[in-house]
Amino acid sequence: MVQLEAQVVDITTLKVDAIVNAANKSLLGGGGVDGAIHRKAGKELLRECETLGGCETGDAKITGGYGLPARHVIHAVGPRWSGGKKNEPELLASCYRRSLELADEAHCKSIAFPAISCGIYHFPPEQAVQIAVRTVVETLPSTPAVKHVIFACFQEDMLALYRAELEAIKP
Ligand code: AR6
Repeated sequence: MVQLEAQVVDITTLKVDAIVNAANKSLLGGGGVDGAIHRKAGKELLRECETLGGCETGDAKITGGYGLPARHVIHAVGPRWSGGKKNEPELLASCYRRSLELADEAHCKSIAFPAISCGIYHFPPEQAVQIAVRTVVETLPSTPAVKHVIFACFQEDMLALYRAELEAIKP
């Protein structure tokens, strides 16, 4: 049985096998959760990211966690919301799928996701949370190493959306 939960927590404090970063295509850092992760992980993370050659929207790449309590960082590039006609929902779903696939390949038992694209990239939160939870639930059967998924929220209002969605998908 996989444990799925939502918490209000700073993702950079979580001692899990992998935390997911809401990165941009350069993978060289930025604001929001990306800035917080790079600050805490330190310069070695940036050095590893510089070797990766960037990342396409909807895809993800894995690195070490360096100064973070997490063993790995999975850098996923979410879509910037521009009205919903540029394949944003599918690209966001792809971030969750690819992150779980990389976690599985790296034998990660526990993984924490931020609300990818819900900050600076302005994806509508209700829709993003539905995509996040449903895509994770659909993908987990093909990523058997992953046993514990945390949706890390920065605000209480996001927590309420995740909790409602997690209730809605219960059989
Ligand atoms: N822990 C958990 N969640 C957080 C944290 C944290 N420490 N900090 C912020 N959030 P954002 P995006 C939440 O803007 O929309 C960067 O510049 C935040 O409240 O970090 O995917 C990148 O380099 C929101 O709900 O990511 C890209 O250029 C969620 O994390 C761009 O921003 C995502 O917000 C990506 O934008």
